[in-house]
Amino acid sequence: MADANRIPSDSGDYVRIFDTTLRDGEQSPGATMNVEEKVAVARQLERLNVDIIEAGFAASSPGDFESVQRVCQAVTKPVVLSLSRTREQDVDQSLKSVDKAARPGIHIFIATSEIHLKYKLNMTREDVLDAATWAVARASKHVDHIEFSAEDASRSDWEYMAKVCAEVIRAGAKIINLPDTTGHAIPEEYGAMFAYMREHVPGADKVIWSAHCHNDLGLAVANSLAAIRNGARQIECTINGIGERAGNTSMEEVVMALRTRRDLLGVESRVNTRQIYPASRLLAQVIGQPVPPNKPIVGDNAFAHEAGIHQDGVLKYKLTYEIMKPEEVGIPSNKLVLGKHSGRHAFINRLAELGVDAAAIDLEKAFAEFKALCDKKKVVYDDDILALVSEEFRRLGDQLELVDLEVSSSSKETPQARVTMRVNGAERTEASSGDGIVDATYKAILKIAGINPVLERYSVKAITGGTDALGEVSCMLREDGITVAGHGAHSDIIMASALALVNALNRLRARGRTPQVRASDGP
Ligand code: KIV
Ligand code: ZN
Repeated sequence: MADANRIPSDSGDYVRIFDTTLRDGEQSPGATMNVEEKVAVARQLERLNVDIIEAGFAASSPGDFESVQRVCQAVTKPVVLSLSRTREQDVDQSLKSVDKAARPGIHIFIATSEIHLKYKLNMTREDVLDAATWAVARASKHVDHIEFSAEDASRSDWEYMAKVCAEVIRAGAKIINLPDTTGHAIPEEYGAMFAYMREHVPGADKVIWSAHCHNDLGLAVANSLAAIRNGARQIECTINGIGERAGNTSMEEVVMALRTRRDLLGVESRVNTRQIYPASRLLAQVIGQPVPPNKPIVGDNAFAHEAGIHQDGVLKYKLTYEIMKPEEVGIPSNKLVLGKHSGRHAFINRLAELGVDAAAIDLEKAFAEFKALCDKKKVVYDDDILALVSEEFRRLGDQLELVDLEVSSSSKETPQARVTMRVNGAERTEASSGDGIVDATYKAILKIAGINPVLERYSVKAITGGTDALGEVSCMLREDGITVAGHGAHSDIIMASALALVNALNRLRARGRTPQVRASDGP
């Protein structure tokens, strides 16, 4: 078994980890993150020691542009890059967004498959070849780290794609990515495509070949490993495998597969695997999407042995049923952490272990909330602490803020709610009745927001066990064709529900759907 403390060799032959949680991962329904949340995740990616962070798609919105810039300021070790189409405006915006990065880069893509050329781009093969070469040549005047992606590579004609790759290499691309954009490939054919390209593309030995897989058939990790076996030395992936549709290659799975089966694969990444579990929990809290218990590596059951025969075997000798050690991926042996006697120092240490930078949050407030929670709950778990802190990131920069909530309900009376919110600094109060307390609360909040979106989903979950547990509420709103998710955590489930709705309304605003609130509107 691999030694948990061993740092993989620094020889040139290692697998670069390109993390796209903040770009492709964010394309996962309901996984939008605000700037502060992206910065918090980026800092954890740096602790993980990923090689490259794809921080966003700068030209797609002012919010994405700002996020890329902020990530560039927040980290120094990894290369930070922005995705870019082959258009002049995209390339220039991307380059501008990373110009303050310690290690800037750009990721230029255009589709090469017939189906995309004909139905999406309405371009000929020559047009695509010219656009790709032009964009890479333009970027190469300003930055060295240039990745080119042949979108829908796995459904492209290999001979044509080889020509495009050769030209972009000549124009200055240093990394060539061959994505399985639709998650359609199976390992043998995906691996064979890398072998073909490495053999037929002039200059192939001068670049790093990269795999980018989607999980529509559940084969993203297997396909990525097949690419590695055929010479790829970069894998594009996301924490918890989040991403467009069924998601991207899961970072924790592919990193641990490389590590656990180095005997067969011969190469490894340079990820600090002990930061995997904190990264997984941090992201789950930030986007409000819990990790399924059976998720490999980071799920609650990933190292749990239920069957008697297995338990017996593990007690006698762990390796009978365990191929990795939980501590190797940073799973704390004792998840019961701090209590009411814990001091600030212990709290800050615990935050660091959980991947949270104390300097990036309002520490006084977080510590006060932690102490208040200790008074309410007998035991405080890691996930409780993460929920408190994520609540903090979530609210930074908000236009709408929940100030007060009063509710009343009995079996004989209609539930009532009275809500006070701060809107751009000014307070407004509204009251409403409803079918239940949550309904009454939501109606009062929406009166203040002045919009009537469709509530597509509402779910409640206890973060840790017990009736005193922190409750986490997630909701999904749709307005004018835009869907956003909101999350809230609180020991009072009605407060958590209100926080989730306010969070979603703030996200709608960030996406350009401004609630019709006017701070001057009186009650
Ligand atoms: O899946 C894909 O093809 C992509 C590209 C933009 C790299 O995400
Ligand atoms: Zn993708």
